[in-house]
Amino acid sequence: MERTHWYKDRVFYQIWPRSFKDGNGDGMGDLYGVLEKLDYLKSLGIGGIWFSPLYVSPGVDCGYDISDYYHIAPEFGGDEAFDAVLKAAHERDIKVIMDFVVNHTSTECEWFQKSRKRIEPYTDYYIWRPAKPGGKLPNNWDSEFEGDSAWEWDEERGEYYLHIFAIKQADLNMDNPLVREEVKKILRYWLDKGVDGFREDVITYISKPEGLPDERLLPVHKGVTQYNMGPHLHEYLEEFKTEVLDDYDQVTIAEATLIKPKKALSLIGYGPGKVLDMVICFEYECADCLFTDYIPLPFSLRKMKRAFRSWQEKLYGKAWNMLYIENHDHPRMVSRYGSEKFQKESAKMLCAMYMFLQGTPFVYQGQEIGMINWHPESADMYEDVQTRNHRTHLSEKRRLRLLWRASRDSARTPVQWTAGKNAGFSEAEPWFYVNERAKDINVEDQEKDPDSVLNFYRKVIDLRSSLPVIKEGRYTEYMKHSGSFYVYSRDDEYQSVLVMCSFKGHNKNLKVPKKFDLSKGELILSNYDAEDRGPVVKMRPYEIRVYLFE
Ligand code: GLC
Ligand code: CA
Repeated sequence: MERTHWYKDRVFYQIWPRSFKDGNGDGMGDLYGVLEKLDYLKSLGIGGIWFSPLYVSPGVDCGYDISDYYHIAPEFGGDEAFDAVLKAAHERDIKVIMDFVVNHTSTECEWFQKSRKRIEPYTDYYIWRPAKPGGKLPNNWDSEFEGDSAWEWDEERGEYYLHIFAIKQADLNMDNPLVREEVKKILRYWLDKGVDGFREDVITYISKPEGLPDERLLPVHKGVTQYNMGPHLHEYLEEFKTEVLDDYDQVTIAEATLIKPKKALSLIGYGPGKVLDMVICFEYECADCLFTDYIPLPFSLRKMKRAFRSWQEKLYGKAWNMLYIENHDHPRMVSRYGSEKFQKESAKMLCAMYMFLQGTPFVYQGQEIGMINWHPESADMYEDVQTRNHRTHLSEKRRLRLLWRASRDSARTPVQWTAGKNAGFSEAEPWFYVNERAKDINVEDQEKDPDSVLNFYRKVIDLRSSLPVIKEGRYTEYMKHSGSFYVYSRDDEYQSVLVMCSFKGHNKNLKVPKKFDLSKGELILSNYDAEDRGPVVKMRPYEIRVYLFE
């Protein structure tokens, strides 16, 4: 099948289903709610939806622990509701991509239940190991979510199984050809149903090295340097591509922890041997932490710019970027990189900052109204398995302060549709807490305000599609060392777009790059009213200006 690369001309919206919209009044977000809101997404200019997992799951990791890959969870409306959403989305020219989680399954998956009993052909579907002499663990790898070993003893089988994530998320043995057949069968099933592609969950972890060697480099997250980008990763992805994906005009986006452009380019791109379309890089999410949100550092604009620059420059002409600034695994961007005090200004600035780069932008639910972090009164109020097991040795006060800053639950509170009861998310008591800021940050109010964050997103998405230079233009950055401003242009033969962003909470003068005379440009976007056009301009708190030169 010929690839049209349709994804290059669209903006995606990520739906984390539990908290998007409850449509049947039981307190849990679902596909009926999505159906209600498709026109809203269309009005935003959205051309694709990425659904976080919708499959049947016990919900230990909110759906990233799948027990049945062929059915949609009843709490989301089941298969029928999904078919209706898929059809309605396609009628509006909105593509639909599914989360695809095959590094691990739920231990409640039939495969695991049979594997633990050694029922063929499932015996070797997972990574089972006997205890080492003296009852010792098979190796020193850590679980990302449990705060201790990645090995769990299974009484029934009399062996340990590997779980890089929660105890109930058992890693599949991708070296087993039968497991790869299952993977291909699942891909084909959903593509035949009409979905348009996949976001592949922790896919760079699927190939574990022979002998499962101990971690020797890192003191935490032990194991990741061994299994990330493992020895057969490329080969397995190529198999999925040539045997299934190539038959469809679909898109694949791989979650790729810790990899840099050079490694990414071994997977993505246009030539032969390239096995994916885009990667979700983690460097964008490390401007205020050391690899993980749980090791916080002060926000560094220089670090953030370095990440964007590196991906923009190194992929140019070779591969396509996936652009994002929020998702369901990280706290909210306004609280991290912007300012809760200047919520509106900074939400707009951050929006335009990444949307004019080259690539396919993703907007995470609630980001389009500038939702901010949630600050519960007690650590017990967190729901997420990672959050609940993290740093439990700290005093409540210190732990809470860390969780406010780091927990993924900040991105998982219900979308704030109105200022009313339960933020308009549900008629019933919602499954999770509503952020107290729903009162002043919500869709309904912002619909009415032409100057709102929401309407700013509409404008930006619309501008992107009307300016070809945003799709293919070169990226040039100015004032690379500035810790206050992010300034770049996108240029082609006919047009230049200059983007100037301030990350300061006070006025500060910016020296416009010599190449540009602002009096000759057209101001096509900004988050303040008046403007000056000299060679030095006064940038107000979190100001963004975008000029077009033709
Ligand atoms: C990915 C998902 C995350 C999940 C983990 C395990 O990182 O984005 O939400 O917990 O994989 O599946
Ligand atoms: Ca519901």
